[in-house]
Amino acid sequence: MKSVTVVNHPLVQHKLTFMRKKDTSTAGFRRLLREISLLLCYEVTRELPMTNETIETPLAEMQSPVLEGKKLVFASVLRAGNGLLEGMLDLVPSARVAHIGLYRDHETLEPVEYYFKAPEDLSDRLVIVVDPMLATANSAIAAVQKLKERGARNLRFVCLLAAPEGIEKFTTAHPDVPVVTAAIDERLNDKGYIVPGLGDAGDRMYGTK
Ligand code: URA
Repeated sequence: MKSVTVVNHPLVQHKLTFMRKKDTSTAGFRRLLREISLLLCYEVTRELPMTNETIETPLAEMQSPVLEGKKLVFASVLRAGNGLLEGMLDLVPSARVAHIGLYRDHETLEPVEYYFKAPEDLSDRLVIVVDPMLATANSAIAAVQKLKERGARNLRFVCLLAAPEGIEKFTTAHPDVPVVTAAIDERLNDKGYIVPGLGDAGDRMYGTK
């Protein structure tokens, strides 16, 4: 997989435009995020290994493809990651789930870990880390680092929006982890927000501020 993939599908770009609009309601934002996450999940799982299984249709026996290997893991960076997670689980209901609680210290912009729970056998599974905004990349880098320390070796990172600075920092820290995003915006502002962006994804998703 390419180190950075921008999903330029018309449906993704159309839905993203409505998510960016400041007047989009909380319910609308959440629904759009769930819908886009299905399309991002489709993209990030495009190259999953397959194997053939012998099955019987009502008419004949045949060799038919199924996913190979252990169930994959979605790792949600709390809390905004959960918005992407839900749609992904609609598409891959048997996936395992990891939760990583990181909040951004508003002064240093550095991530602080407060929660980590993941399946034991990460080394045998594809781990797809989800967090809508790749801004400074500090949280994403820390989340992937933690998963690697727990054995993960095959990872992908999925976000909705990325800043060029975040992409650069993340791919330098974890060159082995491909990134899938719906768009790469212009820049970060001095508060670490993506511009033009969509604001605070967690606040918009949950109606907090
Ligand atoms: N997190 C967000 O929710 N929005 C940004 O623009 C940057 C980080």
